[in-house]
Amino acid sequence: MKAIILVEPGATTNLVMRDIAVPQINNDEVLVQVKSISINPVDAKTRQGGGVYNYGNVNKQADLILGWDIAGIVIATNSKRFDIGDEVFGMVNFPGVGNAYAEYVAAPAEHLALKPGNISFEEAAAATLAPLTALQVLREAGVKPGDRVLIYAASGGVGHYAVQLAKELGAYVIGTSSAANKQFVLSLGADEHIDYNAQNLADATHDIDFVMDCLGPDNIIKSLPVIKNGGKVMSIVAQFNENLIAQLKAKNVIGKHLLVQSNGKDMAYLAGLLGNGKLRSHISKSFGFGQMADAHQQIETGRTVGKIVVNV
Ligand SMILES: NC(=O)c1ccc[n+]([C@@H]2O[C@H](COP(=O)([O-])OP(=O)(O)OC[C@H]3O[C@@H](n4cnc5c(N)ncnc54)[C@H](OP(=O)(O)O)[C@@H]3O)[C@@H](O)[C@H]2O)c1
Repeated sequence: MKAIILVEPGATTNLVMRDIAVPQINNDEVLVQVKSISINPVDAKTRQGGGVYNYGNVNKQADLILGWDIAGIVIATNSKRFDIGDEVFGMVNFPGVGNAYAEYVAAPAEHLALKPGNISFEEAAAATLAPLTALQVLREAGVKPGDRVLIYAASGGVGHYAVQLAKELGAYVIGTSSAANKQFVLSLGADEHIDYNAQNLADATHDIDFVMDCLGPDNIIKSLPVIKNGGKVMSIVAQFNENLIAQLKAKNVIGKHLLVQSNGKDMAYLAGLLGNGKLRSHISKSFGFGQMADAHQQIETGRTVGKIVVNV
């Protein structure tokens, strides 16, 4: 089969297409013929030597097949969960080695769910790491109906699902992006939009119950004046060091980092929402399997709208 190997951490030229053996499946795994793969910032961060190398117990010296997000068809199974021919999607072995940039992937069945029939393989591949992150954050934060929720980078991969999932939980949602993506953020169901270039946060909003940070520690500090006493902030980027925790404590705000985890039950929950149209993937660009370097360059811009996918 064809697979894209990261021969050593570095530039996109280190992503090399090779012919390698189709992987064997272990107990409780299925072999998926991959149709689409989604690309996340962590793909590029890992390619550059960071990402899961920092937290996923991954050997920097060995060849690595990047990628975690797949949608495809089960062609062999060692699990009772799925039959041959089932269309599935999921985030495989995160944080670890997903081996997703390949024509066939051996995946733990418990990381997958059945793909709803009404969405494409592209839309399914997109709806894996990014909405799992949003879901796991919003659930951990205990977001409830009526909460005022501020979501940063609401037009991005994680953010565009977070807006929809927070609305599904009954929250009042305020999303940030540049002006160019205002209509997109509102079209996802956000109640309000803040243009981070043109508006001062403290003038634009107030009394936030929960902040979902997708940008980093400076952004969290900048958000403090608009968070309610007793509110919460969760970040998928910033680690909460002592200094940051002290600044939050002074305002009686709880802060926490979250790293997304593979989870088939959560995938099944997302599949339900995708199936009944309450959640949708926005794909701004698709690439061919031979264009992986271009896909990495796109995700590295930090300006991606919704998701990008690579079709195999
Ligand atoms: N901890 C975890 O488990 C986890 C999981 C997933 C992702 N992450 C991390 O979370 C971050 C976001 O991931 P992603 O997939 O959503 O990235 P992404 O798709 O690349 O995000 C791009 C979006 O960010 C917006 N943006 C850029 N700068 C902004 C700013 N200053 N304020 C508001 N919006 C801004 C852009 O909109 P404009 O062009 O309009 O500015 C663009 O639409 C990445 O660092 C990623 O590695 C962590």
